[in-house]
Amino acid sequence: MNPLLSKSDWLNSEDIRPYVYLRPENQISKPGARHRLDWFDKPALTINPLAIAELPFAEHIYFIENAAFGPAQMAMPRWVFYDCAVLPGFVSGFAYRTSKLPAALKKIFPPNLGNSEWTPLSLFIIIPTMHKGEWVAHNLCSVNSILPKEEQFYGLGFLSKAFGLWYANVDQCTGMTQWGSPALKLHSHYGHLEVIGAYAPVHSFAKTVTYRVIVDTHNWEQFYTKEPDLAFLEKFGPTQIKIDPQNEKSMIDLQLKIERDEGPFYLNAGEIAQAGLKDPLSIYRLKSNY
Ligand SMILES: CC(C)(COP(=O)(O)OP(=O)(O)OC[C@H]1O[C@@H](n2cnc3c(N)ncnc32)[C@H](O)[C@@H]1OP(=O)(O)O)[C@@H](O)C(=O)NCCC(=O)NCCS
Repeated sequence: MNPLLSKSDWLNSEDIRPYVYLRPENQISKPGARHRLDWFDKPALTINPLAIAELPFAEHIYFIENAAFGPAQMAMPRWVFYDCAVLPGFVSGFAYRTSKLPAALKKIFPPNLGNSEWTPLSLFIIIPTMHKGEWVAHNLCSVNSILPKEEQFYGLGFLSKAFGLWYANVDQCTGMTQWGSPALKLHSHYGHLEVIGAYAPVHSFAKTVTYRVIVDTHNWEQFYTKEPDLAFLEKFGPTQIKIDPQNEKSMIDLQLKIERDEGPFYLNAGEIAQAGLKDPLSIYRLKSNY
């Protein structure tokens, strides 16, 4: 294992493997060819979501997703998973060999989900778009959100998305999350994060940030090293604009600036890593646009 990932030593376990849950027609040609990286050296499990025998794997995915998003009233309906994720895109993550599941994990899964050889621990859903080369990150969650701190797998959510981006050779990834979500700490580490929407009244939750990154594995390393991103600081500088996760007006104001083409605007991953979830975040611009 790459020593950089030592905080995620669970990656070394013989009983944990990355998985891709994708229908056979959606096979990726040359997985991992684009981003040169030695993080994912174990062969991925490939699971066919259309096979009836694989239903227990899906039931475990649903259980994790519902537990993670249910409290925020964003649990994914089954038809959304099938129509909008499984058919056009794929799911990736990590899975544990069911026969070796540790007690803490056995305890969280109800017994009526059925049995499969491998039990998913996380899921990242990504869907290709009609804009060539652009994918949409649709969902990310991990069992860490429902495990006690001492039983968690550090980096599970982060690496689930990293693995999916790496596996599918994703160059441009767009996504959305809510301002103030812990997920921003992860999403900002896959490449410099441009805010392409600061307010989304069309969404169930208007306080949603829509972002885009050009995938760059240098930023992945900083998730572990916590070193400042010098390349970002050289290229981008802070503006007077701040987004306060508790203040809808700050989001609407930035959204209107985006609509008036006054951007592009960016978030600083290093600042988000240090900030509390309720803290205001600075908006950055290209220094060349000053
Ligand atoms: C958000 C989520 C995907 C993160 O995955 P994870 O496996 O818990 O997190 P990872 O182990 O990969 O990353 C750990 C980092 O995230 C931070 N983090 C994770 N959950 C956090 C929380 N609730 N509050 C603050 N920080 C949090 C950790 O502090 C850590 O940062 P550090 O390295 O600075 O200490 C996961 O907690 C989850 O499923 N949440 C519920 C669903 C959700 O909100 N999904 C995101 C929607 S876009």
